Amino acid sequence: MKKSYIRLGVNIDHIAFIKKARETNYPDLCRAVEICEDAGADVITIHLREDRRHIQDKDAYQIRQCCKELNFEMANTLEMVKIAKDLAPNYCCIVPEKREEKTTEGGLNLSDLPTSSKTIFKDNISLLKDTGIEVSLFINPTRNDIEISKELGAQAVELHTGSFSDTTDENQLKIEFDKLSDSSIYAHDMGLKVNAGHGLNYMNIGKIAKLPHINELNIGHSIIAESVYCGLKDAIIKIKRIIESCD
Ligand code: PXP
Repeated sequence: MKKSYIRLGVNIDHIAFIKKARETNYPDLCRAVEICEDAGADVITIHLREDRRHIQDKDAYQIRQCCKELNFEMANTLEMVKIAKDLAPNYCCIVPEKREEKTTEGGLNLSDLPTSSKTIFKDNISLLKDTGIEVSLFINPTRNDIEISKELGAQAVELHTGSFSDTTDENQLKIEFDKLSDSSIYAHDMGLKVNAGHGLNYMNIGKIAKLPHINELNIGHSIIAESVYCGLKDAIIKIKRIIESCD
């Protein structure tokens, strides 16, 4: 049976990094959005970090105006919920955030959540849903975290593919793939949309695109890195071809 279409979310934080590094008004993020969408990106993903290290508030509002579909990655804070409600992206993905980390290193730590934190999660998720935003949680691929995501009211999960992407050991690769595959089926059976992302690149995407029930893959760093050599448009076309050839 032919696999259903897998949507591609292109994360443009790394383009904003270049802008922020020199506090310039270039590169123009809306020009990047236009190229991404023309090349076949289904959704534009941005992460407004609490430390504003790449995307700035004004970038987020500008991108909202020029993109077709926006996926807004955010920490589980009231500040971010307020911004999201005002920004009105199509999707919000709640992610863990640590100031010292280079990037989002793992999924949300849902297993040890005290009742008070669960309540904050539930309240924030319902505030976002009430605005018409579809809410996803960035989680490690475990059945337990999927069950908690459902309990908290999420409509989707994004499975963290970092452990899969980081390992070079064949046995470990199989273990990580099996965890993602099991989680994908489990989340789908629970009525959740299944997205995945982190550390995906031109070498490993072929395997990930074979996972069952994947709705969307979110990719940033590798696409922007490849675009240095071949341009943003071709970098996206190239990764989409690999995803689409994985039947
Ligand atoms: N999905 C989420 C939730 C993320 O936080 C990130 C990193 O910002 C990505 C996907 C993209 O990861 P990468 O830049 O490694 O492709």
